[in-house]
Amino acid sequence: MAATGASSGKDHWSSRTAFILAAIGSAVGLGNLWRFPSEAGANGGGAFVLFYIFCVVLIGLPVLLSETLIGRHGQADAPESVRRIARESGAATQWSILAGLGVFAAFLVVSFYCVVGGWVLYYIGVFCNDLVQTGLSGGAFQGRDPAEIEALLPGLFGNGGLMVGLNVVFLLITLIFVARGISGGIEVAATWLMPAFFVLLVAITLYSVFGGAFQQTMNYLFTFEPEKLTGEVMLAAVGQAFFSLSLGVAGMITYGSYVGRDVNIAATSGIVALADTTVALLAGICFFPIIFAAGLSPDAGPGLMFQTLPHAFQSMPAGSLVGILFFFMVGFAALTSSVALLEVPTAWLSRALKLRRGVAVGVVATGALVLGTLSALSFNLLSAWHPLGFFPLFEGQGMFDVLDTFTSKLLMPMGAILTSVFLGWVAERRLVNSETGLSPAMQRLWLFLIRWVCPLALLAILIVGIFPSIL
Ligand code: PFF
Repeated sequence: MAATGASSGKDHWSSRTAFILAAIGSAVGLGNLWRFPSEAGANGGGAFVLFYIFCVVLIGLPVLLSETLIGRHGQADAPESVRRIARESGAATQWSILAGLGVFAAFLVVSFYCVVGGWVLYYIGVFCNDLVQTGLSGGAFQGRDPAEIEALLPGLFGNGGLMVGLNVVFLLITLIFVARGISGGIEVAATWLMPAFFVLLVAITLYSVFGGAFQQTMNYLFTFEPEKLTGEVMLAAVGQAFFSLSLGVAGMITYGSYVGRDVNIAATSGIVALADTTVALLAGICFFPIIFAAGLSPDAGPGLMFQTLPHAFQSMPAGSLVGILFFFMVGFAALTSSVALLEVPTAWLSRALKLRRGVAVGVVATGALVLGTLSALSFNLLSAWHPLGFFPLFEGQGMFDVLDTFTSKLLMPMGAILTSVFLGWVAERRLVNSETGLSPAMQRLWLFLIRWVCPLALLAILIVGIFPSIL
């Protein structure tokens, strides 16, 4: 029970470890397992992956510390925390708009995130059904053609009613955890399930690595071919880094506000970034050998995780049980992230309108449900509707992809630029220095990164990513 700031009467993490696990829970999720491998595949492999790692270290980590710092100092929802720091620094309180943008982004992300959460529920159901039919004796889907297994996901995508229903279920589960509050709901899930998830992922990765195509995977993921590093690939990598580290959507500001004064947030930020990147790379090293061994295409798109893993489970002893366990864990990793996402607008709304937590979360979830339904239907009924198709960045994209692109490639980098400018140039130096927990030399390095490197690099990447013809 170390890290409480409970004297303020505000709900807090019950310990430093609980905060670290919850922050890792927020960071590690579908972004690592579902989004990272498919983005790496769609953007050519090595150049994307290495630039991604570069972004995590030089941009993601400093911004992660900045967001946590704002929340911990402000001890309130994201816009209010920024407002407090601005006031103490004698700056315009309108800076809170940076966090307002984040709240809006978190709302958009949670709406489509729960749609993918629904796919995970579907696969849990598929493997349960398979276990009942084939038992424990051999691999999953015995006697079934691999093409038939790969067809499961397109089958789900074609069923609008089921997609919407599963989205509702996943959103409802998220809502229940958020309604129960920080120490009662979110923490409990993160404390038990994140470590279990990690162990299972390592085990499946080892199985996949020994199954073959390992060398090909390492070459694919870690060979740097400079000519492949286009503006679009850079923007995709930076967007993925933010999505994965939960940045630019006020998520870490919100979680930081539940952290007590005695926690060294520089150290916790490092642990969170390391854990998150390790899981993303593990997911890559786990999935790509299966993709290559099965002759699948690495740029298969958003279905990559769902279509690849069943191949491995087909050849594994007790495959359907491992399949259930794996997707169950993915579901929990997704849940600890969707909870963090839903918490951001809920914390803001309940303070701004003085609503009870339960009411606020209900209002936010209703809004997310409307958008989520449009996203779920963009795979079937509304597949011909391209809401922002006139803009090249969104060309050919339905609602689901538009929300993903708009948040990860625009709102998150913009939120991060504003955050680093705010802390680097606007907030009072003494206030900032007293919070980080860094040594003086590291403090200077961090300040240099958020003053110069983060805003300028992000601005440049945004420009070349949105207008590739400039290069
Ligand atoms: N980082 C999460 C993932 O990789 O799945 C997604 C996410 C969670 C983004 C929470 C933003 C956030 F505030």
